[in-house]
Amino acid sequence: MDGGKTRKAKIEVRNLTKRFGDLLVLDQISFDVGEGEFLSIVGPTGCGKTTFLNTLSKLIPSTAGDIFIDGEVADPKKHHLSFVFQEPTCLPWRTVRENVAYGMEVKRVPKAEMEKKLNQIMSLVGLADCADLYPNQISASMLQRIAVARAFAVNPDLLLMDEPYGQLDVKLRYYLEDELVRLWEQLKSTVIFVTHNIEEAVYVSERILILSNKPAKVKAEVKVDLPRPRSLIDPRLVEIRKEVTELIRWW
Ligand SMILES: Nc1ncnc2c1ncn2[C@@H]1O[C@H](COP(=O)(O)OP(=O)(O)OP(=O)(O)O)[C@@H](O)[C@H]1O
Ligand SMILES: [Mg+2]
Repeated sequence: MDGGKTRKAKIEVRNLTKRFGDLLVLDQISFDVGEGEFLSIVGPTGCGKTTFLNTLSKLIPSTAGDIFIDGEVADPKKHHLSFVFQEPTCLPWRTVRENVAYGMEVKRVPKAEMEKKLNQIMSLVGLADCADLYPNQISASMLQRIAVARAFAVNPDLLLMDEPYGQLDVKLRYYLEDELVRLWEQLKSTVIFVTHNIEEAVYVSERILILSNKPAKVKAEVKVDLPRPRSLIDPRLVEIRKEVTELIRWW
């Protein structure tokens, strides 16, 4: 894949700036995301990653700057943004399958189409066997898989993920990262994935933006031009991981 440069820009962020009172957190951030691209954002703790996703999704207002989707100013009424938070969010009174379906129901996806999509996604994320269980009957990683599946299911214009696997142990994370890449490959969503885990960013994404310490600016961009499936011990992957680590280390 060719990164965001030569592909048509799906998302254009221009001079995105956020202040909380006197505190400048995001300082004129600009970048594009290509249609169907998997972009990761890495940056030091507290640099403003969550603020960045919240302003992008318009959960909180920006101080200045613009966000365009398909060339139009981003509008939550017109464009569809999906969000996966660090803490999984599930409706306890709905089964696993009904939780995955929730976003599609809100979007009023026709029943036949919804069933087809649900079957596809439930098997892609390995939830088919627990479709009829309730959230209190399954593990934390299963809950996060529901949140990820639900976010992909609605064919969003942009899918934003804020460290979705940050709480999970390493082995599980590897497994879920593979699942995430599979979903993205099959459903071709445009994804912005925030993580402080450099290895994870290199493993899953096509391009990585590195944010500086607060106030956050885009400090560097690294392309990850490796074939999939990837291996964490591939010397080329290790090389890119080192490059990103160095870039984060030297503010
Ligand atoms: N509502 C708010 N009011 C005032 N300051 C805020 C608010 N939300 C965030 N901040 C400040 O903005 C800065 C960036 O916070 P943010 O949570 O976006 O960082 P982060 O990179 O996501 O951190 P972490 O790595 O811990 O997830 C911090 O200094 C934080 O205190
Ligand atoms: Mg955060």
